[in-house]
Amino acid sequence: MTPDLMEAGAQRFERAAPAPAAAASGGRSPGYARPAVPGEVDVTHGRILYLEDVHVSFDGFKAINGLQLDIAPGELRCIIGPNGAGKTTMMDIITGKTRPDKGTVFFGSTIDLLRHNEPQIAQLGIGRKFQKPTVFEHLSVFENLELALKTHKGVKHSMFFRLDSAQSGRLAEVLHTIHLAGSEARLAGELSHGQKQWLEIGMLLMQQPKLLLLDEPVAGMTDEETARTAELFLSLKGSHSLMVVEHDMHFIRAISEKVTVLCDGAVLAEGTLDQVQADERVIEVYLGR
Ligand SMILES: Nc1ncnc2c1ncn2[C@@H]1O[C@H](COP(=O)(O)OP(=O)(O)OP(=O)(O)O)[C@@H](O)[C@H]1O
Ligand SMILES: [Mg+2]
Repeated sequence: MTPDLMEAGAQRFERAAPAPAAAASGGRSPGYARPAVPGEVDVTHGRILYLEDVHVSFDGFKAINGLQLDIAPGELRCIIGPNGAGKTTMMDIITGKTRPDKGTVFFGSTIDLLRHNEPQIAQLGIGRKFQKPTVFEHLSVFENLELALKTHKGVKHSMFFRLDSAQSGRLAEVLHTIHLAGSEARLAGELSHGQKQWLEIGMLLMQQPKLLLLDEPVAGMTDEETARTAELFLSLKGSHSLMVVEHDMHFIRAISEKVTVLCDGAVLAEGTLDQVQADERVIEVYLGR
């Protein structure tokens, strides 16, 4: 069969069970030989995220310089590294906020993220949490979660939107996961800093992301909030893939399996926390003597 015929077949398959428009890679059906299941990320190659030889310069400064990284489905990957290492820039590239000058960025084995823009990438199932909580302070916890769902679904006329029973069930489940069950009527503005962070994570969870990118999620939290956030992330692992950037080593120790150390826009070391903490180069650039 020629690629054209295979493409036509894949398109027929899509018509039979329509996928969201954004799921097609750059307007083309993802995959020739095996039609991708609509709405699903193909992880048959054991990776949910794959970056190869990625480069970005800002005015000649190489913020990302030959970055190579991949994440397995269900993995909780920790990323550490000195200020300016390129950790946030890497998340900007994955989420479509920054275009790399060169390189490959794939979500599963069929979705080329460089062919999608920021809203499409969110729709594909990559959720991102920035450092500062961005909840709607004048709305209740419940309304914030409901709004996250509406926004994701592109509901224009919110007045007529009603949660169906599956969505109500999910909202209750998310409230429980983020330790805010019983607080749904409270105004978000009244929550502690840590609770606002959890609420924002809950807003991401309402959108059922497959991969979550979290940039310094425990910055500014109390020790107790940090410990509960560690529990929360461990509970998400397996059913979600997570990439967590943090400077708090106690937190990293509580959640980590594999740790990647970034420095000067590339991977300096990778391994368990004990392994990377014993690495002379990591001690030199980050952990200090
Ligand atoms: N839009 C931009 N324009 C110019 N320079 C930028 C831009 N974004 C990032 N940089 C530079 O790229 C480098 C990497 O920044 P980045 O924010 O990714 O580091 P980081 O590892 O997240 O650091 P931190 O731990 O402090 O958050 C820094 O030197 C930063 O000043
Ligand atoms: Mg950063």
